[in-house]
Amino acid sequence: MKRPILIHPDPRLKKVATPVDDISDELRKLSDDMLETMYDAPGIGLAAPQIGILQRLIVLDCVKEDGEAPRPLVMFNPEIVSASDETSSYEEGCLSIPEQYAEVTRPAEVTVRWMDRDGNAREETFDKLWATCVQHEIDHLEGKLFIDHISPMRRQMITRKSQKLKRERARG
Ligand code: NI
Repeated sequence: MKRPILIHPDPRLKKVATPVDDISDELRKLSDDMLETMYDAPGIGLAAPQIGILQRLIVLDCVKEDGEAPRPLVMFNPEIVSASDETSSYEEGCLSIPEQYAEVTRPAEVTVRWMDRDGNAREETFDKLWATCVQHEIDHLEGKLFIDHISPMRRQMITRKSQKLKRERARG
């Protein structure tokens, strides 16, 4: 089932999400809904707070090549255990800030530990777009958006545009 995505500014996008201690069927269903919502948008990542659920859960799939098999990842309680000194920059966007993009610099490689949907502990090192995306999604669990990494002036400008779009959508 597709879920509505919250649009910035929204107080729920600023909250720190709570760790998941037990993966219930309800949470598994939620992760399926999040993947469906993400693919439909379309997007490459989605965090639970973006659909108003303040729990530490993200989903992502950064496979972008046509013909390549999709690789949906569901991460409960994802944690960055190490990050490279080397950085990389990407033009980032966010399903909660439609049509707005900005260049963000982050560590080029990160090792992430998480619990998968069967409750198994997993660890993997990500680079390129996957590294950017997983850091962007984990930021959401801390109530942080990609615009928090850019200049205050640029952030205000994007926030105003997002606010306007949100009002227009609400009006229908
Ligand atoms: Ni986002």
